Amino acid sequence: MADKDIAISIKGLTKHLGGRKVLDDISLDINRGEIFVIMGGSGHGKSTLLRNMTGAVVPDKGKIYFNGQDLLALSRIDREKMQRRFGMSFQSAALLDFLTVEENVSLPLIEHTRLSTKVISIIARMKLSLVGLQGFENYYPNELSGGMRKRAGLARAIAMDPEIVFYDEPTAGLDPVVCAVVDQLILDLTKKLKLTSIVVTHNMESVFRIADRIAMVYKGKLEEIGSREDIRNSKNPTVQQFIKGELEGPIQIT
Ligand SMILES: Nc1ncnc2c1ncn2[C@@H]1O[C@H](COP(=O)(O)OP(=O)(O)OP(=O)(O)O)[C@@H](O)[C@H]1O
Ligand SMILES: [Mg+2]
Repeated sequence: MADKDIAISIKGLTKHLGGRKVLDDISLDINRGEIFVIMGGSGHGKSTLLRNMTGAVVPDKGKIYFNGQDLLALSRIDREKMQRRFGMSFQSAALLDFLTVEENVSLPLIEHTRLSTKVISIIARMKLSLVGLQGFENYYPNELSGGMRKRAGLARAIAMDPEIVFYDEPTAGLDPVVCAVVDQLILDLTKKLKLTSIVVTHNMESVFRIADRIAMVYKGKLEEIGSREDIRNSKNPTVQQFIKGELEGPIQIT
């Protein structure tokens, strides 16, 4: 794959937290326009990997390239400029409870653009309609269901027309049908808006529904990477145990 087709490239990423090696020499490339899923058990480093990619966490060792640019070599101002091309949807929807849904989606636009209030409102409403929340603009987050809050979080993540959207557990805690709705939304948004999506999840149905490629993180290491078919047919017993949710196998829960 030519370099111009790679959105994010990670080389030798290593990170210690709380005296433990949480990420161990991870290298991978994320292709432009793909839905790249990071799966793995709880505590194995998925969120930490995502947070390194966004620049929220600085690795101890390794490099992160975004469109070929070394993210860690940038000045703080340039890094923040680059981060505006990222959209983020967090593990909890992380909406501000004292703001309406429309105000939540408007927030990044108020903060980072000089657009008029009127234009910002139009953009926020457009993003909300993209995630199926037209008519709920004036609701407060605690007046919405969990699935609607996740969708509002997605609308906020795409408020600034990002190139890359990072999602941490976008379907956690949702019922299976709402989960399918959010997955479909991620597929639609990625393909229609020509985004690159990086999704952390351990929901196997979601993984196989949305992923163009899948990486499994296990004990801070990249255990396996490949297409849906590669992962389904993997001969790696750790991968097989994880995707099938089996009790027997190399993964030991203590
Ligand atoms: N700020 C921190 N300080 C110390 N340890 C941390 C910190 N953040 C994460 N860790 C540890 O790093 C490991 C990986 O955490 P991480 O949140 O990346 O896991 P995860 O794969 O996203 O798990 P989950 O599926 O439960 O969200 C865990 O053992 C966690 O306790
Ligand atoms: Mg996590």
